[in-house]
Amino acid sequence: MEPESLKCIRCGRDHDPRRAIYTCKSCGGLLDVAYDYTKLDPARLREEWRSGAPWVWKYHQLLPADPKIRVSLGEGGTGLHRCRRLAERLGVKELYVKNEGENPTGSFKDRGMTVGVTVALMLRARATACASTGNTSASLAAYSAKAGLPCLVIVPSSKIARGKLVQAIAHGARVLAIKGSFDDALREVRKLAESGEVYLLNSVNPFRLEGQKTLAYEVYEQLGGRAPSRVVLPVGNAGNISAIWKGFKELVELGMLDSPPKMMGVQAEGASPFASMLIQGLDELVPVREPETVASAIGIGFPVNWPKARRAVEESGGWVAVVSDQEIVEAQRMLARLEGLYVEPASAASIAGLARMLEERAIDRDEEVVCVATGHGLKDPDVVLQFYEEPVEVSVEEALEEARRVLR
Ligand code: F0G
Repeated sequence: MEPESLKCIRCGRDHDPRRAIYTCKSCGGLLDVAYDYTKLDPARLREEWRSGAPWVWKYHQLLPADPKIRVSLGEGGTGLHRCRRLAERLGVKELYVKNEGENPTGSFKDRGMTVGVTVALMLRARATACASTGNTSASLAAYSAKAGLPCLVIVPSSKIARGKLVQAIAHGARVLAIKGSFDDALREVRKLAESGEVYLLNSVNPFRLEGQKTLAYEVYEQLGGRAPSRVVLPVGNAGNISAIWKGFKELVELGMLDSPPKMMGVQAEGASPFASMLIQGLDELVPVREPETVASAIGIGFPVNWPKARRAVEESGGWVAVVSDQEIVEAQRMLARLEGLYVEPASAASIAGLARMLEERAIDRDEEVVCVATGHGLKDPDVVLQFYEEPVEVSVEEALEEARRVLR
């Protein structure tokens, strides 16, 4: 559907959605894609969704891009896995993991990029660009390749997992690694975008977040037309939590859902400016200068979307948690070994966060929880080699002897 406007969440000013802008021209606030929902018939929508194939473009009526020229790799339609063994271990009644690693490039970013890169074509952009801790660059590189657009990515050198870097290179992006943080990289690439040289596809781009909100619609459908009591997810640049909340709010607005979930954000100890702001009751976010965590995807010191994310947590009645690297690695191991789901450390932060929130009684044990596993484990194999027991090299005879011992 054609959006009505890009609405500033701070001053309310409307902007033309057919222009490449990222923040409010009056006050610099973040923008939301606004629609006239009265143009949609919820009963027809529900019927269409019920019979449609499971992917992002099934929801084209609520997307701001033209499906006829979509740039797609078959994203969305990821599994919502019921995790009985892990639920029992953590002591919660019902637990599902939405496994975003099943997307084409292995993370939830693909939902956003299919829409964002289609919009880039609609705006006749000459090139795409992003700063990234890894997954955004992998995804943007792939979708830009599909669209035939040159792609520039700036990453913090030595702070990006190998699997992700390899993806961006393989898809032919121009990769620049800087000696700074993700936040430095984003500041630089935003300058390039303001000058109109490239189309920016970081999560400050409101069109990209429109693609990501489809996760909410999928969870709603997969649970048979309702929402869980909580959605728990990692927070980095704070786009995804804002996007998913927008998706649930739209279902309420359309009269398709009565009670939306509480949005629960999780950050890593060494990069927790958003959680700290809420826990300490501050009005403004205080940036972390040198973010450091095993979950490199969420190693972000100044999350640009914090005002939207704050709104998501406050409106939904949700909360935040901070977890240590050790808790993250332990959660990754539990999910892999109890449920067969191997996810990257940032994704495991959602499980670690759930464990924390149960302990801290921010979540009750009789609730139904969906944790979002944002990216595939294969993105970052070095973590396993660093933190898990490695296989020892032995002779064939010793191996057989050991095998018999283990099987006995
Ligand atoms: N999980 C993973 C695997 C991510 O890659 C990211 C963000 C997040 C969670 C956090 O999502 O930023 O919307 O709060 N990765 C970005 C990137 C920053 O560059 O790939 P967010």
